[in-house]
Amino acid sequence: MVTPREHFGSKMGFVLAAAGSAVGIGNLVAFPVAATKSGGGAFLLLYTLFVFFVCLPVMMAELAMGRKSEKDPVGAYRQLSGGSRAWRIPGWLALITPFMIAVFYLVVTVWVFGYLIEILSGNLTRLTDAAFFKEFINTKAVFVYLAVIMLIINGVLAMGVKDGIERTAKALMPLLFIMLLGLVLFVLTRDNAILGLKFYLIPDFAKLNAEVVSKAMAQAFFSLSLGMGVMITYGSYMKRQNSISGSARAVALTDTMVAFIAGLLILPSIFYFNPTVDLSALSDSSVGMIFLFLPKIFLSLQASIGYVGASIVAAGFFFLVLVAAITSLISIIEVPLATLQDERGVSRKKAIYTVAVIQFILASACAVSFGMVDWFTQFVWLAGSEKSFFDLVEIVFYDTILPLNGLLVCLFVIYKWRRVNLDDELSLGDGGFSGSLSQKYLNFSLGTFIPAILLLIFLNTVALKFFGSSFI
Ligand code: ALA
Repeated sequence: MVTPREHFGSKMGFVLAAAGSAVGIGNLVAFPVAATKSGGGAFLLLYTLFVFFVCLPVMMAELAMGRKSEKDPVGAYRQLSGGSRAWRIPGWLALITPFMIAVFYLVVTVWVFGYLIEILSGNLTRLTDAAFFKEFINTKAVFVYLAVIMLIINGVLAMGVKDGIERTAKALMPLLFIMLLGLVLFVLTRDNAILGLKFYLIPDFAKLNAEVVSKAMAQAFFSLSLGMGVMITYGSYMKRQNSISGSARAVALTDTMVAFIAGLLILPSIFYFNPTVDLSALSDSSVGMIFLFLPKIFLSLQASIGYVGASIVAAGFFFLVLVAAITSLISIIEVPLATLQDERGVSRKKAIYTVAVIQFILASACAVSFGMVDWFTQFVWLAGSEKSFFDLVEIVFYDTILPLNGLLVCLFVIYKWRRVNLDDELSLGDGGFSGSLSQKYLNFSLGTFIPAILLLIFLNTVALKFFGSSFI
């Protein structure tokens, strides 16, 4: 007997679950770091243009593919292509990508969790010691934290789409918004916050170059959870009476607002810590920002609110990042679960155990690649330097395959599945879509310049990450 597909209970439920997927470490840390290094308001403007004019159409295409087929990415490509062999490949890529992104994302989430526990144990000062991070990520405790985080995520997933994913998003997303706003209000009332605001909001167009443009695009794509099968899978749980374009716009807007507000938190904090800070010396990586720099900023708050106060603010921030990371991981891990159920007919419970065991092993391999096991630490020689297993997973699946998957979605919906079918699906639950400007824009952009941009980014990333030289 075929069981009917589970659906999100309401449009709001879908929007919150998809926003939960979109809002993650990418918004709370990677976006402010990128904006800080790449022209402040100028980066923000560029990023927003990419979100609404490039990423939003791709998101709508992914959601339409999922809802039409009511299948996981592998099934969606197979069904909508009429069983074409060649189009099986993008389906498999859209499955393997989230599977592997979850692996390295889990490791960073585990570190966030570990830092939260340290802060709650009264150890904020320890976290500001330059050597602590390296020591911490190489302790056995990391595996215990990994098991705890995986238990939480898989516990939610075991309850299903409506009672697990949707209910968790409904509870956690409002909490995340309130905590973020609370932290921002607190930070904006600190000394020198205005310097940070100025730096963040006044555009420095001189910083924009081809590399920054490519960075803004990649950041927007990752932030909206595109190219990783998530929106195809979540689309398959959407009801036909809900408008895809309206829901996608709400998700994109929420995601961009959170990234913008996270900048209002991070930049003023940096300037409170040091009004004459040299931001060009700041690390480019999110990891450097979260684990090496932010604890120092939080500790410096003790001058005005005491050690306990500073620890509460620090714990609030790490909890916020943890919640955002968990809701993103829930959506990313749902993709292989849906695939095993749809394609192999296994029960949800069995799918969860299977995926969890493999992911625990692979995430452990990533976790030991910072010095614990030499073979994983010096895993491969790439573009003139040694890369760990963690680096390799990030380079292949986050940097490289994501834009390729997006490109394949565009080509598929326009040239294989066909515009008319895409239009029909997007018109369901949205009386105003047919003949609208949005429809015309989507039809044109998805078949022309969006895939061209994604192709350029993909080729440039391959050149840069695998051969050590960029051509844009
Ligand atoms: N979209 C998620 C993030 O931004 C994966 O972190």
